[in-house]
Amino acid sequence: MLINPEDKLGHIRREIYGNFSEHLGRCIYGGIYVGENSPIPNIHGLRKDVIEAFRQIRLPVLRWPGGCFADEYHWKDGIGDKAGRKRMVNTNWGGVVEDNSFGTHEFMELCELVGCEPYIAGNLGSGTVQELSEWVEYMTFDGVSPMAEARRRNGREAPWKLKYLGIGNENWGCGGNMEPEFYLAEYRRYQSFCKNFGGNRLFKIACGPSGGDAHWTEVIMRGLRPDMAQGISLHFYTVPEWEHKGSARVFDDAEYLRTIDCAWLLDEHITKHSEIMNRYDPEHRIGLIVDEWGTWFDVEPGTNPGFLYQQNTMRDAMVAALSLNILNRHSRRVVMANIAQAVNVLQAVVLTDGEKMIKTPTFHVFDLYKEHQDGDAVYCYAADDRLAEGSRARTLSTSASVKDGVLTLTLANCSLTDAARIDCAVSRFPGKLESARILTQEVHACNDFDDPENVRIEPFDATYENGVLRAELPPCSVVELRVRAE
Ligand code: AHR
Repeated sequence: MLINPEDKLGHIRREIYGNFSEHLGRCIYGGIYVGENSPIPNIHGLRKDVIEAFRQIRLPVLRWPGGCFADEYHWKDGIGDKAGRKRMVNTNWGGVVEDNSFGTHEFMELCELVGCEPYIAGNLGSGTVQELSEWVEYMTFDGVSPMAEARRRNGREAPWKLKYLGIGNENWGCGGNMEPEFYLAEYRRYQSFCKNFGGNRLFKIACGPSGGDAHWTEVIMRGLRPDMAQGISLHFYTVPEWEHKGSARVFDDAEYLRTIDCAWLLDEHITKHSEIMNRYDPEHRIGLIVDEWGTWFDVEPGTNPGFLYQQNTMRDAMVAALSLNILNRHSRRVVMANIAQAVNVLQAVVLTDGEKMIKTPTFHVFDLYKEHQDGDAVYCYAADDRLAEGSRARTLSTSASVKDGVLTLTLANCSLTDAARIDCAVSRFPGKLESARILTQEVHACNDFDDPENVRIEPFDATYENGVLRAELPPCSVVELRVRAE
């Protein structure tokens, strides 16, 4: 292996380590929000344990309220006196009644408590230009206007700062089944009326492609100027076969290999969309935002199929680790990513059961990787050994960054059978090993409510001498090594 700390690939914006939270299953209700009268410790109804967990991984940005839910969400139903808030049916996710007790004020307070940027996904599919324009005014206008006055009446004097604004979600699918040309025209109109009030500067995000859909990207990029959109989104889930997703916990080695192989598609998709974006935007003024990614398995037996609740094992940890390495390596074009989802849905970082909360193996990967946030991604070469014959997956996934004189290297050994010996020359970087940490377990291992610490980060043995990092990674492991320059 080889690292050149002077060869910069991009800047790893902290937003690459973002999460996504939707009104889906128990993500918001029960997961993030329990209401002020709950015996579960909370601040204005927001779970303290979940806030603390988000702070631990330095969660930089949280996307809300969907997902598919975003394009049927009408924000005015979620403000004001809770008893009077309109109820609605969540048609996408289980047909449950949504009481709108968690709305704009609750979400913005959550972000303030966590210390993260809010990322609002606006409704283009079933909303109106006026509705979205007024939401921006409600949140960000400091002067005298109907929306700003309404915000004050609802208890919030000062405007919030809102940077990230998505305009529509999956408008090629649940967000309206649109053709790209039609969506583009709608987007251009909607974004024109989303204004920058006072010192607030919106970073507007257009709906981008699903997976490898190059045509969508081509049409959207051709029709956008950097003043109209600063980002376009990409959604990619690790699902080898949509008709047979399989269990999150019970799988054989062949399924594991298929999952890891599929996760590596993220690299191909980003490369393909970046090539298109490079043609229309060689100056990188429009960022690629992977605002939904992660594994998607069958729901846990006995749970509501519309709630997408799945357990999280070391297999998920390996997917998270290699995906984040891919995102770091593409940080010249990728400026944000949001794993789906934060709590109790799909590849969640935390799971809750009543008053209990556990941190999943995926959470621990975010914890292991957090020092990459705001670092410069640097050249890191590893031999291209494939996990299996004909697989696109590499056995060893890596990325490296430098921040404040410290080199951070993260590695995932995806083999289930073989250790990986690391001899990594770091050019012109005299220094000393500051820390070495590992997450490793048998691939099916998970944390559950009876054994919440089963999978956890442990100290690890490694050396750094004469510019060479040496370590031996056990099978199915994720490692973080940090070297401080001297
Ligand atoms: O994350 C679950 C769903 O997956 C989202 O609502 C939607 O955007 C995507 O299809």
